[in-house]
Amino acid sequence: MKLNNPFLVRGYFGPEYFCDRQKETKLLVDSVANEGDVTLIAPRRYGKTGLIHNAFRVLPPEYARVYLDIYSTRSLVDFSREFAAAVIGALETKLEKTAHTLVKFFRSCRPTIVPTEDGLPKFSFDVVPSAAEATLKETFDYLAKKKRRVVIAIDEFQQVLDYPEKGTEALLRSLMQKLPWVRFVFAGSRQHLMREMFLSPRHPFYQSTDMLSLKPINREAYCSFAERFFAVKRKPFSANAFSSIYDRFDGVTWYVQMVLRKLWADGAGVPDEKTVDEAVADIVLTRSFEYGDLLKSRSEAEQTLLLAVAKDGPVAEPLARDFIARHGLRATSTVASALKHLQRDDLLYQTERGYVVYDRFFGVWLRNAR
Ligand SMILES: Nc1ncnc2c1ncn2[C@@H]1O[C@H](COP(=O)(O)OP(=O)(O)O)[C@@H](O)[C@H]1O
Ligand SMILES: [Mg+2]
Repeated sequence: MKLNNPFLVRGYFGPEYFCDRQKETKLLVDSVANEGDVTLIAPRRYGKTGLIHNAFRVLPPEYARVYLDIYSTRSLVDFSREFAAAVIGALETKLEKTAHTLVKFFRSCRPTIVPTEDGLPKFSFDVVPSAAEATLKETFDYLAKKKRRVVIAIDEFQQVLDYPEKGTEALLRSLMQKLPWVRFVFAGSRQHLMREMFLSPRHPFYQSTDMLSLKPINREAYCSFAERFFAVKRKPFSANAFSSIYDRFDGVTWYVQMVLRKLWADGAGVPDEKTVDEAVADIVLTRSFEYGDLLKSRSEAEQTLLLAVAKDGPVAEPLARDFIARHGLRATSTVASALKHLQRDDLLYQTERGYVVYDRFFGVWLRNAR
């Protein structure tokens, strides 16, 4: 099937709509093919999840592919449930037939078949808190019995650090070590937490994986990817106008995709910067209520700091005296604590060049706010 709009802002739809990432795809696949595990790190919206799916596509057919996003899990109980469901969902296709064997296998929880939104039934695991560890072990036993090559990608993996059960990393690591034919990809957006988990000797996963950190897509590759679609539609396309999209969002994939999608929808092509300005303004306008509420929900110091970073960003030293004075911020300690909270909640983000507003469209909105 062909897409009406080739610029996806959610999901993966095959290589035709996926730009470049050939090197990264190869690295990931090679690592798995050579019995390695991979840690994939990049801020949100760079394209980690897309890359995992793209790599899954080119992986040799003998591998079973398991993907799970644990962003919304809060405990080992949640994790065990999601993990079991994802593994069984990917390895068992004939659900009714396997129900019987699964019940024998999973003694700690009751697997049941439930309908899902997309109409396909799937297994659900009724995990009770005291049995979370047992369920996880049973899932690994099940994988052991299968004797099949499997790749399991766990997205937003840093989430396990927030679980109340402290031994999750160690437990997973020890279970993994018994199954050399099951390879893992750990992806995460919170870079310092991911680095801590995989590069600090105090953590069980210390130096146990190949590290892959995703940078923005190459500008030229992205430009020709976009141009190709507009050319088919005989729409104007200026490489300079494309560059202006790329630059204002530091090449971060999702934002570039959002603007291209809008320009495609408007039928204007990418003729000049003015058209790009208008497209960005339109996107930000549709989010202005959300952004207004978001700003109002923060303390006064945080609001002032957000506005200041949006106007000046990237800000290398938000605690510098002249920055504080220029924006009517107060005591250094107040700014420091506002900074900490805004970073914790993913509203500000530290790049190599300094702090920026994490959601770039929110940044645009803030710049025009007052
Ligand atoms: N190489 C790519 N080419 C085109 N679109 C991409 C590419 N990588 C990601 N995307 C799109 O960008 C958006 C963000 O990517 P995603 O993989 O969800 O980022 P992350 O997982 O890092 O937050 C998605 O809509 C996805 O479809
Ligand atoms: Mg993702």
